[in-house]
Amino acid sequence: MKKVKVGVIGLGFIGPAHIEALRRTGIVEVAAFADNNPEVAKKSADMLGVDTYYTDYKDLLKDKSIQSVHVCTPNFLHYPMVKEALNAGKHVLCEKPLATSVKEAKELVELAEKKGIANAVNFNLRFYPLMRHVRLMVKNGEIGGIYAIHGSYLQDWLYYDTDYNWRLEPSMSGESRAVADVGSHWMDLIEHISGVKIVEVFADFATIHKKRKKPSKPIETYSGKLLKPEDYEEMPINTEDYATVLFRFSNGARGALTVSQVSAGRKNRLYFELDGSKKAVAFDSEIPNQLWIGNRDKPNESLLKDPSLVHAEARAIISYPGGHNEGFPDTFKQLYKEFYGRILEGKTGGDVNYATFKSGLRELELCDRIIESSRSSAWIKI
Ligand SMILES: NC(=O)c1ccc[n+]([C@@H]2O[C@H](COP(=O)([O-])OP(=O)(O)OC[C@H]3O[C@@H](n4cnc5c(N)ncnc54)[C@H](O)[C@@H]3O)[C@@H](O)[C@H]2O)c1
Repeated sequence: MKKVKVGVIGLGFIGPAHIEALRRTGIVEVAAFADNNPEVAKKSADMLGVDTYYTDYKDLLKDKSIQSVHVCTPNFLHYPMVKEALNAGKHVLCEKPLATSVKEAKELVELAEKKGIANAVNFNLRFYPLMRHVRLMVKNGEIGGIYAIHGSYLQDWLYYDTDYNWRLEPSMSGESRAVADVGSHWMDLIEHISGVKIVEVFADFATIHKKRKKPSKPIETYSGKLLKPEDYEEMPINTEDYATVLFRFSNGARGALTVSQVSAGRKNRLYFELDGSKKAVAFDSEIPNQLWIGNRDKPNESLLKDPSLVHAEARAIISYPGGHNEGFPDTFKQLYKEFYGRILEGKTGGDVNYATFKSGLRELELCDRIIESSRSSAWIKI
């Protein structure tokens, strides 16, 4: 069977998740990976059973047999790596954010278009089957006109001032943190499933820990809790731990989002409620096999993910029967099945369910306007 040969750059937290999911598609061969940390590279090769690996990603790009590249490194490296990969003629699937500035992201959108290369940004939450089902409910008019969309994306992995990661440094992460890192997932998902666009924003940012203790040696994402206090140096923090953003949508609907990386007990919880003129729906990504459906004139409903109970298009991204839960890693698998399925059919553009570089650019534009609003305390038009 014909398979697409893929290379993955960056094997920290999310790179291995890409590799596992790619292999589960059945239509991809993970040919090689690159990580500039030799220890990480060696450990990952053993754990994941990948024979070919490099500590310089440029060597991976030189391999002519590799057709597509996943960029899973810290944010500031996305732009140069994606650009080089496109120039080497590879298809590219980039982790979010596509770049750390609108200018860079625009350049990547144009370059991918000019070269006719398949491109995607890893906004994986779109690929929860129940999110596809909600999208179809909206499309079919089952929810009615949209009145409001509100919710949150809460985490606790930066709860203590001893929690540290490259994401706390704007030179590596970008000017916004909580909004860009997780708020972007929420906004991408909401625009995708609701079909309405954010047209105005009003934001309030807070940095809860104005100083944090940086470990004296680099650590893997989410493992900061294990370090001892004597291993830290104090660092000033100037990106947001917490933010609230008000939205005005293109159809006149209103909305609000709270993002936080300092909410104890919330591990990685995207939540939203979408209020329509016929019914409402609510979703919590920590229990992603359930959709709450709110009714005014009859009892509320709870839809459990089950191929026999969802719209046909949502059924297409379900691999297991009802009661057999699918979760975060499955969203990656479903996204890659569509991305590589199309590449095998020779399609690089057209109507797709995944986020393209254009959607990645959209998130950077939204984040810029949100930062502007937080600084000026004013409504800002998109
Ligand atoms: N879609 C999602 O749900 C999701 C979840 C987590 C992270 N992400 C994104 O994935 C990216 C990586 O995040 P992470 O949490 O895995 O970070 P991480 O710090 O755990 O891993 C980054 C890896 O990149 C490697 N690296 C750094 N510089 C390199 C270079 N020059 N060449 C090759 N490798 C290099 C590091 O050694 C490390 O192994 C970020 O952009 C983040 O926003 C997305």
